[in-house]
This record gives sequence, structure tokens and C-alpha cells, in this order.
Amino acid sequence: MRTDDYNLAGIGKKLTTKWVGSRLSFYESIDSTNMRAWQEAQKGAPHGTLIVADLQTSGRGRRGRSWESPAGVNIYFSLILRPDLVQDKASMLTITMAHSVSKALAGNTGIDCQIKWPNDIVVNGKKVCGILTEMGFNKDGGYYVVVGVGINVRPQHFAPELADKATSLEDEDGRLQKLSRSHLLAEIMDAFEADYDSLMVCQDLTGILESYNHMLINRNARVRVLDPKGEYEGESCGITKTGELLVETADGTMVQVYAGEVSVRGIYGYV
Ligand code: BTN
Repeated sequence: MRTDDYNLAGIGKKLTTKWVGSRLSFYESIDSTNMRAWQEAQKGAPHGTLIVADLQTSGRGRRGRSWESPAGVNIYFSLILRPDLVQDKASMLTITMAHSVSKALAGNTGIDCQIKWPNDIVVNGKKVCGILTEMGFNKDGGYYVVVGVGINVRPQHFAPELADKATSLEDEDGRLQKLSRSHLLAEIMDAFEADYDSLMVCQDLTGILESYNHMLINRNARVRVLDPKGEYEGESCGITKTGELLVETADGTMVQVYAGEVSVRGIYGYV
């Protein structure tokens, strides 16, 4: 039996946000919070609807992968957004969430969290958090976005192919045994609300740029860009205010790398 307060009442009590989580649901078990959020959004669920779960039976990752989602150890949530932002800037929402999560994790655990562009959160070279953003369309032509976040909090068994790439917060710092998942979730929502408001005012990432780049892994280091049109190496110089990664190649050209099918690796492995 779980002894923490990771449930509807516990999370509801801790949330201090203005609009994030103004509608909140919690599931002991669900197929995928992203799938549920998508269905709710289709039915008109409002901006800021937050869906949280303790266990996912079909957790979804990026690029068609699955996301391991055991009970009692992690945070899984999806947030429905109806942004006042032109649709082709929607990828900035994912970058914004990565920043908010990383900032809140670092601030509440003391752990040195880094961001692997565009949106993995990494501790000591291993991934602790992944973000999956999905977009849908209203009948009136407007769009909504579901931002789904999975954070590994407590030690757990990872599949063999993930064992050297994934970790949990507590694995990285044993003193975090008592870290409350609902507290952490509420702090992330606080951080996201502020970052989202800044995104709406600026209509770009200006408000978080310096802080994001400060947490960016491989900044000023050599990276390999795995572009399906041809791989190349260069030095990663940070992101632009619209979220592209700047990579300087050997001949001095500054390339703007767009997220999507392109991924970036340090030259020594996953990060
Ligand atoms: C990734 O592959 O890095 C993205 C993982 C995203 C997982 C989260 S867990 C909550 C939400 N519901 C899902 O089915 N996926 C996202």
C-alpha cells in the first residue's frame, strides 16, 4: 500500500496555481494520460486540464516507443493547453515544459538536472524525465496541445535496453526517499504556469532562454547531429529564442537544428 499523498486529494491540496490544474483528475491506473487527455480535449476540456496517474498500462513515448509506467514510483501527467500562439510555434511548449520540469526538479531536490535538447531531462548522464507533446484540432479550426510528462522518482527495474540510459531521482540521491511526488508535481505546475505566461507575453522563449541554455547538456561541447539527410558534428552553442539548437560546424557555419526527426548526441553516447 502506498504511504504517500499521491492521489486526487493530496495533489489538489498542494496545487497553488491559478489556472493549471483548475480541472484535475487522478487515476490509480489508466492506459495513458496522453490518450485520456486527448479524448477529453476532443470533448472540449478547458485549457489547464490536468490528468495525473499512478500507473499507465500503455504509456507512450516519442517516436512510437512505449514508456515504462509502473505503479507507486513515478509521476505521469498530461496537461491540456489551448494556447494563444500560432500553431507552428507549438514546439516551444515542449521546450518550455522541459525548462519548468528541470528547474523545479533542481530546486526541490538539489540535484544537478540538465536538459538534453529539446526535452529530455538528464541527471548524471541518464534520463529521468521524458516529454511527449501531441496536437489535435477543434471543429472550429483551432488547435489544442497535450503535453505529457513522465518522471522517474523512485528506484525501479528498468528494461535491460534502458538500464544504462535511464535513472530515477532517488537512484541519483538516496536522500530523496521522502520526496513527495505530489509536492514535486505541484512545484512543476507552478514553474510551468510562470514559464507559460512568459511564453504568451513574448510569443517566444526570450523569458527562459538564459536559464534553459544554462541547463543545456553539451553546451559548448562537440555533438553529433543525427540528421536523416546526413550526420555531421559540430559544437553546440545553445538554443535560439524559437527553440532551434545552434551548432557550429568545422567550417564555421552556424546551423540551426530543428527538433523533430533530428536528434543530437554527445560524441560519447546517449547524452
Ligand atoms: C519520451 O519518449 O521521452 C516521452 C515520454 C513521455 C511519457 C509521458 S508519461 C505521461 C504521458 N502519458 C503517456 O502515455 N506518455 C506521457
